Amino acid sequence: MAVLVTGGAGFIGSHTVVELLENGYDAVILDNLSNASEKVIGRIEEITGKKPVFYKGDILDRACLDHIFETEKIDSVIHFAGLKAVGESVQKPWEYYENNIAGTLTLVDAMRKHGVKNIIFSSSATVYGDPAEIPITEKCPKGQCTNPYGWTKSMLEQILSDIQKADNEWNVLLLRYFNPIGAHRSGRIGENPNGIPNNLMPYITQVAVGKLDHLNVFGDDYDTPDGTGVRDYIHVVDLAKGHVCALKKMEEKPGLKIYNLGTGHGYSVLDVVKNFEAATGVKIPYEIKPRRAGDIATCYCNADLAKKEMGWEAQYGIKEMCEDSWRWQKNNPNGYDS
Ligand code: NAD
Ligand code: UD1
Repeated sequence: MAVLVTGGAGFIGSHTVVELLENGYDAVILDNLSNASEKVIGRIEEITGKKPVFYKGDILDRACLDHIFETEKIDSVIHFAGLKAVGESVQKPWEYYENNIAGTLTLVDAMRKHGVKNIIFSSSATVYGDPAEIPITEKCPKGQCTNPYGWTKSMLEQILSDIQKADNEWNVLLLRYFNPIGAHRSGRIGENPNGIPNNLMPYITQVAVGKLDHLNVFGDDYDTPDGTGVRDYIHVVDLAKGHVCALKKMEEKPGLKIYNLGTGHGYSVLDVVKNFEAATGVKIPYEIKPRRAGDIATCYCNADLAKKEMGWEAQYGIKEMCEDSWRWQKNNPNGYDS
């Protein structure tokens, strides 16, 4: 039996496919390549010695989904496909709701038609809004999102939960990711943002490689130890391994489950800069700028539940995250077009 990985050519998806193949699963990727390169497929084969089945197609394309479920022996879906740029979602809310919500509804309808009722969904710490408690446990109430991207995650959690409640043959695992960074140790796959990166680590690596002049630090007056924003950065390979544990959990037919995937450690923007400089020997010039709209001061999790119920725990620390992000960027200064 195989796992259908929607968005499997993307950043987290490609690392997850590597872990799946290395753990004896067959993987079928469906990706429309709107934010990925087809070269990823060859790189995955280079790393694992196995070639995943790849369909270039869209989760909104019902005929394409039916064809995949009729052709491949799928028993679970890991659903990464989605648009994820926070700023863009404010400018293009319709496109975000259409792609992420209508896309997921189309996928889920095709799944139930073909009797596949196991789904692992990529959610985000963003559903907690400005969190009511730190560290954030899964019991922490969901909050107000500050942008349409965040709302698609929050709404899809609700939609998938309601579907599971109505039909208990469904198993729905909602994985709330904290801040994934890093790359595969091989330096062959990694994050490949279009244009100027919005997120901290890709911005830092592009400063390091000389594509950008300096880092803008968004605010130094938060109520945090050094005044800059604190986040729970997690190595993307640890996150990928979390999906293998989630698939094992599926075998217990768990119904609906929600897990935080983070390390439980918070690092400030300046901590990340210092750790990056120490791990790579490359200096990162920075300037303090005003706060970025929609940002919160502190966000890190308690990941005990994932450890207790799935046997998953992050292995890598900030040093490996910085080293691996840098290896990927240095070896591939222009991403997959290098
Ligand atoms: P990514 O953009 O690298 O991967 C998403 C993939 O989905 C891309 O390869 C894109 O081409 C594909 N895709 C988008 N719409 C599609 C559609 N309609 N049909 C088929 N394919 C489509 O992003 P990522 O960082 O790997 O994130 C994966 C998932 O995890 C996303 O759902 C994202 O919202 C979620 N997530 C990411 C983060 C993060 O910081 N990267 C944090 C929390 C949650
Ligand atoms: C952002 C999104 C979140 C999404 C997550 C993963 C916002 C408000 N939130 O989270 O919804 O799930 O990415 O894609 O966009 N920083 C700088 N300079 C930079 C970039 C970032 O100082 O150039 C700071 C930020 O202010 C923040 C920290 O670095 O304190 C991390 O930022 P980022 O990597 O964008 O992640 P989040 O804001 O946590």
